[in-house]
Amino acid sequence: MPETWTLASWRGLPIQQQPDYPDAAALEATLDRIRRLPPLVFAGEARRLRAALAEVAEGRAFLLQGGDCAESFAEFSADNIRDTFRVLMQMAVVMTFAAACPIVKVGRLAGQFAKPRSASTETRGDLELPSYRGDTVNGMEFNAEARTADPDRLLRGYHQSAATLNLLRAFAHGGYADLRRVHGWNQGFVSRTAQGERYADFADRITEALDFMEACGVTGEFVPLVREVDFYTSHEALLLGFEEAMTRVDSTTGDWYDTSAHMLWVGDRTRQEGGAHVEFMRGIRNPIGIKVGPTTEPDGLRRLIDVLDPNGDPGRLTVIVRMGADKIGEHLPPLVRAVRRDGRKVVWSCDPMHGNTVKSANGYKTRVFDRILSEVRQFFDVHIAEGSYAGGVHFEMTGQDVTECLGGAQDITERALADRYHTHCDPRLNASQALELAFLIADSLKKQRANGQPRIVAEAS
Ligand code: PEP
Ligand code: CO
Repeated sequence: MPETWTLASWRGLPIQQQPDYPDAAALEATLDRIRRLPPLVFAGEARRLRAALAEVAEGRAFLLQGGDCAESFAEFSADNIRDTFRVLMQMAVVMTFAAACPIVKVGRLAGQFAKPRSASTETRGDLELPSYRGDTVNGMEFNAEARTADPDRLLRGYHQSAATLNLLRAFAHGGYADLRRVHGWNQGFVSRTAQGERYADFADRITEALDFMEACGVTGEFVPLVREVDFYTSHEALLLGFEEAMTRVDSTTGDWYDTSAHMLWVGDRTRQEGGAHVEFMRGIRNPIGIKVGPTTEPDGLRRLIDVLDPNGDPGRLTVIVRMGADKIGEHLPPLVRAVRRDGRKVVWSCDPMHGNTVKSANGYKTRVFDRILSEVRQFFDVHIAEGSYAGGVHFEMTGQDVTECLGGAQDITERALADRYHTHCDPRLNASQALELAFLIADSLKKQRANGQPRIVAEAS
């Protein structure tokens, strides 16, 4: 690790998962343009999210992070953004009621384009081409032109992110997220769909609570908190040239903030100690996440935490666990114990998507709803058993009625995968599967609460 962090100190280090740009000068020219473009988010907003996440780390709030695996240029529309935002709000209402604490809402949106890939090339027949790495890198079509990394795509991604964020800000503060209204959508799901019926009792109890609030005069008309939400954006900090170009000094504090999103995370494939991604991330002051998988050793995680959060800043670090339903029971407890022994206070969040990806018999990359649910439930059970705090969940989901994950009460079958399989990368929960999951993890949230959590989680021993 270089002694002093600078904006470019990552550049001399080993780096994974970067595209191969045929014209390096064109890339640098584009990055120079991006350096002069306005920030997408403000440092003060990132600090506000850090403070909200500090509450999560203390067991007094819960994190809901979700959205696309990969946003795309083709699917960019107001309707798509609205629908994803709406489902996140619907899930948040259910979870707020179950957990009886604030839900911190963070979208995988407005910048979640670039993807790490398991192979750098793809071969079809005799033709071998670079893998598709997300719309801000290259095109998905299988021909040499589309698959060539093109720096102009970074600019297009920036502008799409700006437009997306603009709409999200309007939804969050313009009355669209009013609590009554969001609960009305949930009631619609419960009364109009066969799968919703099983959650009728739960939804009725929320209705009663809202009726009571209204009777007391706590409505969106009088109380801004009821009609507005804080909504934050996040993505994987993968393309370090782009992230560097978006990183600016905050004039209030003199600190560096990556202004491409409120929160950034390092992926499972780029979290090497001594690697470029960890180096870049340690210098920005945004709240950051780090994905940990079944190959993460307790000592490795402890060292990463030391590098990324040397001062133990509350809310700085979210550890996003993505083990797989068959591995989490064995691999998570040693990590929780190691972090706890060091007296560290991180946000523990569960990504039940990336360790549960399988190929269906008919060739689709998919995930089974019950495996996803099982990983979340085990995540809670481990934390309850360890006296730690399960602080959040991280989902790949969309507001559209896609058929990409198997099962759920809608019972999507292998045959149905072909109907509406639209993802550019990993399979996402559709709107009803995502909402169902929120209802189903309500039990775990309640169990954690009944067990005496929220409570202080990290006493050093
Ligand atoms: C992702 O979040 O889309 C992703 C690639 O995850 P991971 O780094 O955990 O594999
Ligand atoms: Co993914």
